[in-house]
Amino acid sequence: MRVMKKKNPQLTKLEIVDMQEIRESMHVDLNDVLNLYAKIVGQRIVDVPIIVDEKSMIILRGNDIYQALDLLLAEKAPILKVDISNVEVTLLKAGLTKEAIIEAALRGRKLPPRSFTVKLDVPRINVPLDRLLKIEKKDREKLKVYGSTLELLYAGWPTPLVRLNSLSNESRSVWAKLEGYNPFSNSVKDRIGFSMIMEARQKSNLREILYEATSTNTGIALASIANLLGIKTKLFIPKTIQKVSDIYLRVLGAEVVRLPVGLTVEAISQVDSQAKKDDALHLNQFENDANFKIHLKHTAREIDEQLKAVDLTPTCIIGGLGTSGHMSAISFYFKTKYGEKVQVVGVQPAANEVILGIRRIETGMKWYHWTCFDKVVDVTQEEAIRGCLKIARKEGLLIGLSAGAVAYAFEKIAKENGVYVLIFPDTGYKYAEQFERYLLGG
Ligand SMILES: Cc1ncc(COP(=O)(O)O)c(C=O)c1O
Repeated sequence: MRVMKKKNPQLTKLEIVDMQEIRESMHVDLNDVLNLYAKIVGQRIVDVPIIVDEKSMIILRGNDIYQALDLLLAEKAPILKVDISNVEVTLLKAGLTKEAIIEAALRGRKLPPRSFTVKLDVPRINVPLDRLLKIEKKDREKLKVYGSTLELLYAGWPTPLVRLNSLSNESRSVWAKLEGYNPFSNSVKDRIGFSMIMEARQKSNLREILYEATSTNTGIALASIANLLGIKTKLFIPKTIQKVSDIYLRVLGAEVVRLPVGLTVEAISQVDSQAKKDDALHLNQFENDANFKIHLKHTAREIDEQLKAVDLTPTCIIGGLGTSGHMSAISFYFKTKYGEKVQVVGVQPAANEVILGIRRIETGMKWYHWTCFDKVVDVTQEEAIRGCLKIARKEGLLIGLSAGAVAYAFEKIAKENGVYVLIFPDTGYKYAEQFERYLLGG
């Protein structure tokens, strides 16, 4: 241990400075920091200043106070400045010098705990904690406080738009709209579950039970929202859907019927006649205009406004076609507003391929024919899974198969410049079976 002695160091007057101006010099034990944190919160007062070197702003004493204030999200800290060359520093690590302390801190490297101490008579202070905190009265919305799970859905919009840096370069930016951020089905289908049920309620068409043909996501959204309203659901799912869907729907209290059809749309007439017989309400996502309208009012507008926030307008939007609700509305909105400046690209499964959530146009789509698509790209299931793996491995997002198909279609058609928006309808967690088959070669 070496002691570098100096006499009567001159401390300056107390200052309140931005936390960012101060440089940490040493790690401290988290337990010590938490004790200090609790003391500061209890007293609402900071009674010891941080001592910093006046030239470099490096902490000579009070790394623990700095960290406690950082955990409290403080914006400012009370400091006293001193000239390091005038203070007595006890160096507890072999080879350490005052210069080395400064050099390490300037490089952003913190020394191990108790590497040095500084002897000083530090005066007590009396700084109210509130003077150091960012005083910003955040509103409910900003803090994401919701009065009900239903409000969590619609007040949670917009869903995020995120730049995919692995696909972007200087002249091309690629953005993903993450519909998986919807709370019930973790998919784009929460929006239509909400709008179809609310519209039926407005028209006083609700019955005690809802019937719907679904490939999972619409079913989850309907069952969730119906539960909030005390309504039952009976859901009809094709044989091609993964097993786990039955479980999720049953957990939500829905009755689940498996039908011997390959595509959800093939079950419509059967569900319709069954609903009539049983006095149930068949909302029918394939024909119900509340589907198209909610995406026009919200999904499409959100994308436009989100891009405007970063001073961009889209040149190409790519998304999958199931009922065609979300992509038809997006096409309608952007073609009406920007005309030929924006290209809209639909994605469908290649012939004889199954990609859950999307299907081929020739199987019949209502709103697709109301607007203009510049291109439709065919994708196989294997290509869709490869799209998922690429996004997972480059961006850390586990996306669903139809989103993977969109990511793959982007690779097929993308040019070196432009502003691309990829609509990712859901997350990958429902598709473990398909991922397993691909990864294990089953
Ligand atoms: C995962 C997934 N992707 C895409 C779609 C297609 O969306 P839309 O019906 O709006 O065309 C759906 C619809 O069920 C879906 O569940």
